[in-house]
Amino acid sequence: MTHTTNPHRRRFIKTAGTAGLLAWSGLPGWLSAMEGMGHMPKLPARRASPNFRPDVEVDLICKPSAVSILPGQATRVMRYTATLVRGPADTVSEIPGSYLGPILRFQKGQKIRINLHNQLNEASITHWHGLHVPAEMDGHPLYAIDKGETFVYEFAMLNRASMNIYHPHPHNATARQVYMGLAGAILVNDSEEAKLDLPAGEYEVPIVIQDRMFDVSNQFQYVRHMHDRMMGFYGDRILVNGFANFRLDVASRAYRFRIMNGSTARIYKLAWDDNTPVTVIGTDGGLLEHPVEKPYVMLAPGERLDVWADFSGRSVGSQLVMRSRSFSGALPRMAEHMMGGMHGSPLTMGSDYPIFSVKVGRQVSDSPKLPKSLSSIRRYGLNDTANPGKPVPIGISEGPMRMLLNGRPYAYNDVLPSERIPVDSVQLMEIFHAHGGGHQADESAGHRMGGMGMMGGGMRHGGMGMRHGSEQQANGTGSRMGMGGMGGMGMMMSMAHPIHFHGQYFQIFERSGGSGAGYASVKDGFVDNGWKDTVLVMPGERLKLIKPFEDFKGLFMFHCHNLEHEDMGMMREFSVE
Ligand code: C2O
Ligand code: CU
Ligand code: CU
Repeated sequence: MTHTTNPHRRRFIKTAGTAGLLAWSGLPGWLSAMEGMGHMPKLPARRASPNFRPDVEVDLICKPSAVSILPGQATRVMRYTATLVRGPADTVSEIPGSYLGPILRFQKGQKIRINLHNQLNEASITHWHGLHVPAEMDGHPLYAIDKGETFVYEFAMLNRASMNIYHPHPHNATARQVYMGLAGAILVNDSEEAKLDLPAGEYEVPIVIQDRMFDVSNQFQYVRHMHDRMMGFYGDRILVNGFANFRLDVASRAYRFRIMNGSTARIYKLAWDDNTPVTVIGTDGGLLEHPVEKPYVMLAPGERLDVWADFSGRSVGSQLVMRSRSFSGALPRMAEHMMGGMHGSPLTMGSDYPIFSVKVGRQVSDSPKLPKSLSSIRRYGLNDTANPGKPVPIGISEGPMRMLLNGRPYAYNDVLPSERIPVDSVQLMEIFHAHGGGHQADESAGHRMGGMGMMGGGMRHGGMGMRHGSEQQANGTGSRMGMGGMGGMGMMMSMAHPIHFHGQYFQIFERSGGSGAGYASVKDGFVDNGWKDTVLVMPGERLKLIKPFEDFKGLFMFHCHNLEHEDMGMMREFSVE
């Protein structure tokens, strides 16, 4: 068994020191936590199995490349390219000129083989974000391959129609590889969706939203200091499908926009600039039961939205801009004004800025109608769960230089009792903010979360009222959690986290505890009634989810999809057994 060492991690420790953050009393605990993260066994690359007869086979290559994004010098990137070995011709479609990987289109039920060829100068492995596949096919960092190696994935498509993501997941380097360009969309189709005759072909448009920071020679700039990791990295320019100033020429009819937040940390509040409501027909896990209209929609890293955009009745030459509208509360107040605001850019997270524009270029007389009913979703109730009175706890804890789940930094195969899940069960889960020690939720739910020493002991919440039971907040008498100023260090660090679970999609059962002006600026933008694999948890919030764990045993990760947080160790594993 060999161990991979990570050059990135060394730099991380160095920069942390230079940032003057040694003053934080939490440092020694954090250092030992980081040490624990370093060990990841290396396995031989998986080969094709002779008994597997694929309907579709794709060669997927990740390699260094260069693309022209801004005028002038080309930008060095890492990118996926793909070639179809067998299967339907529409399986692979390039986005010409983009660093994004080609769109992969699969049908439910297909048997799929993907040969991942690593031509990067570093280890990598690809994860199929959203897909329900065996643990060995899930792109766990355990399976990372070195330059020149090939990993063969073989699985059946069990997912319903949906938009998913493929992106790297190597140990401690997910964020940087995604940032450098390694990401792509997976579209799954099924017969339920096909019956609806939704806009297709040129009328179905992927919209992958990312932010990047460029240096003077057009090269991507990434994490510069500790702060960029703690808060997540925010670029000063929005790219859509890999392009700056993205603009779409449309006909005066209905379109289906398949929107994905492919940013490492940035959260968007999407709205049309003329205040047309956003018509949402689907979320991470595919179509909703019925379309919903929203004044705006929140879209956190890793989340997807299926949006019906109808331009009929609009005259040729008219324009519509999708913007990210202003909001607050997702970052600690002390950081809110800084992030993404470097170099005098107006892109502070939570400010108002354009994402892309649509221009009506031609008049057509015919347009499909929005179906009233989209799909059927079997809605879980508490009685469907194996643990109605005892949710699986997912505690978020935040402190200087440590963003943790369940009180521990990620370490391979370090599974707490609460993280063992019986296979083929449906579980009630609860995500909550676990500032301070023994949280009310654990006690009321009768939980013992082993090793839940939240702030290490490095943190002292000197009498600032760290206790903030959900009851207190829910009835409005609580402090404005996460709104700055209250409750010592833990509170000062309080921020929004998009929590993502590998494996099957889940349903959001209940969301509570959000409060304050920041919360008011985002709360109407959640689409909580569809299938999800990533959910935005605002400061002070508590979410109950119901998630099935069917078919596959093994280790399945869950983590913050603020990818800088993930790489800092804000990740854990479930052992499904
Ligand atoms: Cu999109 Cu584990 O990630
Ligand atoms: Cu995932
Ligand atoms: Cu996070």
